[in-house]
Amino acid sequence: MKTSSKNNSGKSGYNKSGSKSKRSDDTKHSFNKRSRADSGQSENTSGRLEATASVGADGSTFAEKQKWKGGALLSPVPAVMVSCGSLEKPNILTVAWCGTVCTNPPKTYISLRPERYSYPIIKERGCFVINLTTASLVRAADFCGVRSGRGVDKFEAMNLHAAPALELDDTPIISESPVSIECRVTDIIPLGTHDMFLADIVSVDVADELIVDGALRLDRAGLAAYAHGEYFALGKKLGDFGFSVRKKKRAPKKK
Ligand SMILES: Cc1cc2nc3c(=O)[nH]c(=O)nc-3n(C[C@H](O)[C@H](O)[C@H](O)COP(=O)(O)O)c2cc1C
Repeated sequence: MKTSSKNNSGKSGYNKSGSKSKRSDDTKHSFNKRSRADSGQSENTSGRLEATASVGADGSTFAEKQKWKGGALLSPVPAVMVSCGSLEKPNILTVAWCGTVCTNPPKTYISLRPERYSYPIIKERGCFVINLTTASLVRAADFCGVRSGRGVDKFEAMNLHAAPALELDDTPIISESPVSIECRVTDIIPLGTHDMFLADIVSVDVADELIVDGALRLDRAGLAAYAHGEYFALGKKLGDFGFSVRKKKRAPKKK
């Protein structure tokens, strides 16, 4: 495992005025103010108001944009439940700063504040497990993101069960999560408030009921997403990879 000493002092958790956010998870910003774009109209060079075409899912329209200070607003993101430690002393923390960085070799990352109880545990053991969060796990995910393992056994408190990871030695996965992604840390990169734990994905442990005729049916998992401080169940399917360019199958001609 490599530990980089580079520190870019990247800022996150800042609002428009540049003052520091008080939330310890840094996942909500002061972006509540809307511009007059709410009216769905914008002024053209002749001073006339013009209707614009961008329509949101709820029917609202967005026209002009305001420039805000840079911040970590990418949404939606997964709020995953990261299990770590040993089977005897397992812990969970919730992580929204998490993503895929490479397909082959399969690599992922989580970004952690050094003050987290889990931080030295993951650093010393060199591994962690990303357990995907479902709608029925959202309450537990939130709890694991606001209580520290220093003072509470989060598995017990949330009635979750630690099972042995299928690849990593003496490492807990969360039985109640349908997909557990086992990770071995390769690099720790200090970035500012958070350190990035870059990791190889060494195994993906999938619940039997999500495998139908040999195919993974992740659509049946009831996955949850996180956007700007709020949790959501995934909505209706809008398409699939490449559907925008796929030729429609013709109905067979009637003879
Ligand atoms: C939705 C959500 C997302 C979070 N994302 C992160 C994150 O990406 N990185 C981080 O260090 N803490 C994050 N946190 C905060 C930690 O989960 C929280 O401080 C937790 O209590 C740490 O647990 P521990 O002390 O047992 O390690 C998040 C919390 C919530 C509720």
